[in-house]
Amino acid sequence: VAQLRAAITLAAARPGADAPSEEFVADLQRRLAAGSASAPAPTAAIVGPARRRFVLVGSVAAGAAAIGAVADHLLTRPERASEDEAAAAPTLTPNVGAWRGVVAAADLPEGGVHGFELGSVAGFVSRDSSGLRAVSGVCTHLACRLNLNPVSRQLDCPCHDTSFALDGELIRYQLRVPPPPLPHLSVRERDGTIEVFGPL
Ligand code: FES
Repeated sequence: VAQLRAAITLAAARPGADAPSEEFVADLQRRLAAGSASAPAPTAAIVGPARRRFVLVGSVAAGAAAIGAVADHLLTRPERASEDEAAAAPTLTPNVGAWRGVVAAADLPEGGVHGFELGSVAGFVSRDSSGLRAVSGVCTHLACRLNLNPVSRQLDCPCHDTSFALDGELIRYQLRVPPPPLPHLSVRERDGTIEVFGPL
């Protein structure tokens, strides 16, 4: 092992040992050309210091492409791994709670959204073709209160530019880790009133 280490050290100490091989540079050129239309055009002579400069430029371009890919990921709706993931949003069920009216049924037609507060719980109840739905109105990142955007019909967090759909699903975020979907609340319609099961 000691002899192998010595041989490796000596080989690494040779002048020019840190320069990338012609094969590596050619392969990098090929991959950059194939992977990005905006990749820098390869220079005609790639030898010695110029070769190193090309590799540096290529690395910067590849890094920028990677950052772009990450930024794109952060700014777009995350892919849902499966339908089960949407169902993974927990239902907030107080162990000491009751059904409490939040809005008259007549005031929540199909397509309607209504914000409510039940003591320590704030949320939004909505109705669409699939029925009634109620979600928490508090961001799952750091608990800022969500605002209903009446144009996009999304729930926007004012703290870190995050948006949730009315079913609680995360739509957009700019955090390193996506916040979880919004918890659901049990909701029903009784005697002309929309009721949510909330804490006493
Ligand atoms: S508190 Fe909502 S994204 Fe940070």
